[in-house]
Amino acid sequence: MEKILRKQFLEHVGQTSPSPLLIEVAKAKGSFFYTPEGKRYFDLVAGVSVSNVGHANPHVVRAVKRQAADYMHVMVYGEMVESPQVRYATLIAEHTPEGLDSVYFLNSGAEAIEGALKLAKRYTGRSEMISFRNAYHGSTHGAMSVMGGEEYVNAFRPLLPDVRKLNYNDFDDLQHITRRTACVLVEPVQGEAGVRLPAEGYLAALRKRCTEVGALLIFDEIQTGFGRTGELFAMLKYGVTPDIVCFAKALGGGMPLGGFMSSGKIMGSLTHNPVLGHITTFGGHPVCCAAGLAAMDYILKHNLPAAAERRGRLYERLLRDHPAVKEIRRCGLLLAVELGESEKLYRIMELFKQEGILSDWFLFCDTAFRISPPLTISEKEVRESVEIIRRCLDRL
Ligand SMILES: Cc1ncc(COP(=O)(O)O)c(C=O)c1O
Repeated sequence: MEKILRKQFLEHVGQTSPSPLLIEVAKAKGSFFYTPEGKRYFDLVAGVSVSNVGHANPHVVRAVKRQAADYMHVMVYGEMVESPQVRYATLIAEHTPEGLDSVYFLNSGAEAIEGALKLAKRYTGRSEMISFRNAYHGSTHGAMSVMGGEEYVNAFRPLLPDVRKLNYNDFDDLQHITRRTACVLVEPVQGEAGVRLPAEGYLAALRKRCTEVGALLIFDEIQTGFGRTGELFAMLKYGVTPDIVCFAKALGGGMPLGGFMSSGKIMGSLTHNPVLGHITTFGGHPVCCAAGLAAMDYILKHNLPAAAERRGRLYERLLRDHPAVKEIRRCGLLLAVELGESEKLYRIMELFKQEGILSDWFLFCDTAFRISPPLTISEKEVRESVEIIRRCLDRL
């Protein structure tokens, strides 16, 4: 990498940690990205479950170019009839369970969470919000208030009041959901906790308890949506329908897009007392919606959820017998490969970087590495990346 660019990156681009990856990207295609020197990396992160249809997917690139040439931003969200937005919301509604028919488009995951929390408070007239330990929902004040990792949160208090955290998968904890509760926000599969799957019947029990006390159930499908879990959405995989669902990441097909979805009746409460209950300038940007629409179309046409399940199973089968692997937690093509010790994880991250593998750990789990490549990854690429991973594991 040009030294000067690295220096400018550190000096002039706001930083999130003292140790960024510092890999310069020149091009990304399919399951790979490339540095200006031509070094190839297997992308086993996919921008954290964003690039489900592969990098530079021609179908998406074409849609972006076409829409950018037709029109980009024209007016704040919610006033004009913009066909990419309308067509995309309609397609999503066709593939989500009955009762979810209205999509409010925003720019990011955190913003989708903000909108969903506000909608639940507005619709129920209640204030208590319940979420889960080790949950991640975004980094804005509201999203941070419902996030599970105290060490990331404490420096920013005071945050939103009336938030209660429960233990995920703890059936006894469900009694804390009461008639005071506006909403329960849950990731159907906890991503940043290190891929924690719901216990048998847990999401259904959560649904039942929310219905009993009149609290709205909100699913955060920001990481699980659009084929990642082996179904188009985790709510379809587990057969539980929330009152509100949040999307982002793969929603935009590689462009920034977020959204929350509900019934027309619930969503309608944002339009009065007061009007403009939630507003956004760029939410549902036409180019982002055109990209997302093309990506979802591609996911459906190529049955990428089924491919995700096949490829995920293959990774699990090819890696689970390695002596350094303690456990593999998997949902579709979202895998946490557990090494049991953070020192080993830091070491393997270094080896991966040298060997041309991009992986990552999880925000609340620094003993496991992530495998969540584009859902378009071929069987040959899975096998090739496993060979490299196993070579690195051998060196631990
Ligand atoms: C489950 C989940 N919810 C919300 C978010 C926040 O999304 P964004 O970074 O777009 O604000 C993330 C991001 O990693 C996430 O994984």
